[in-house]
Amino acid sequence: MARYDTIGRGYAKRRREDLEIKQRIEDALGGARTVVNVGAGAGSYEPANRHVIAVEPSGVMAAQRPPDRPAIRGVATALPLHDASVDAAMSVLSLHHWYPDAEGGIREMCRVARHAIVLLTVDAEVCGQMWLMADYLTEVRDMDLEIFPAIDTLVGWLDRPAEVHTLPVARDTSDHTLMSFWAHPERVLDPDARAATSGFARQPDEVVDRVVADVGRDLESGVWEARHGHLRQLQAFDAGLRLICARAR
Ligand SMILES: C[S@@+](CC[C@H](N)C(=O)[O-])C[C@H]1O[C@@H](n2cnc3c(N)ncnc32)[C@H](O)[C@@H]1O
Repeated sequence: MARYDTIGRGYAKRRREDLEIKQRIEDALGGARTVVNVGAGAGSYEPANRHVIAVEPSGVMAAQRPPDRPAIRGVATALPLHDASVDAAMSVLSLHHWYPDAEGGIREMCRVARHAIVLLTVDAEVCGQMWLMADYLTEVRDMDLEIFPAIDTLVGWLDRPAEVHTLPVARDTSDHTLMSFWAHPERVLDPDARAATSGFARQPDEVVDRVVADVGRDLESGVWEARHGHLRQLQAFDAGLRLICARAR
């Protein structure tokens, strides 16, 4: 829990919601009028015009929420809600922090939500192939493979039929996740950009220093451009972002 009390500072500035992703989440929530947002953080991607119950363990993250949208302090594995008490449950880039009991959190979402369950998560196999994780930050690739449940596993935990959608990450997305670095190697050199990603923030200083030095060197020498410069021509890239929409029949 305390993790985001440390790395959450300044989070809201860098991690502004991407309007396209927001719309996809809105659509997935369908007609839900009451929604629990699990691991709600600073409130990104929460739908307007619906009654949202935000559940968030970190005080630092909760303090970055708008004053009129407070969060209940709580964790995914023990949601403070009765069975079938909300129309929908959503969780955005949070369930990898529930490790080692992501399954317990998903089962809680199934318990409390009558209709839709909407999960924004990462396919760590795909993300691990992105240049940053594959060539430089292999510690995050290895960690992600452990803490992100495989997509099939996640779908298997859900108690209702689910669809999985690939969400390519736009070059100019306003949500500067680690995946957004695919077209912006310069972000690796920016301490604020790094600090807004839990991938970097969870690494020891010596790993971060090594990656910054390696990427800086390869940018300066042209090695990065030679290997990955073609990415600068793309408008969007599949860096592993996945939207899972499950709905009770
Ligand atoms: C990457 S942030 C995402 C926040 C927000 N959903 C967003 O999209 O901006 C992950 C969030 O999960 C929260 N979190 C960590 N462990 C959790 C747990 N066991 N149960 C629920 N949320 C948790 C963190 O405090 C953090 O706010």
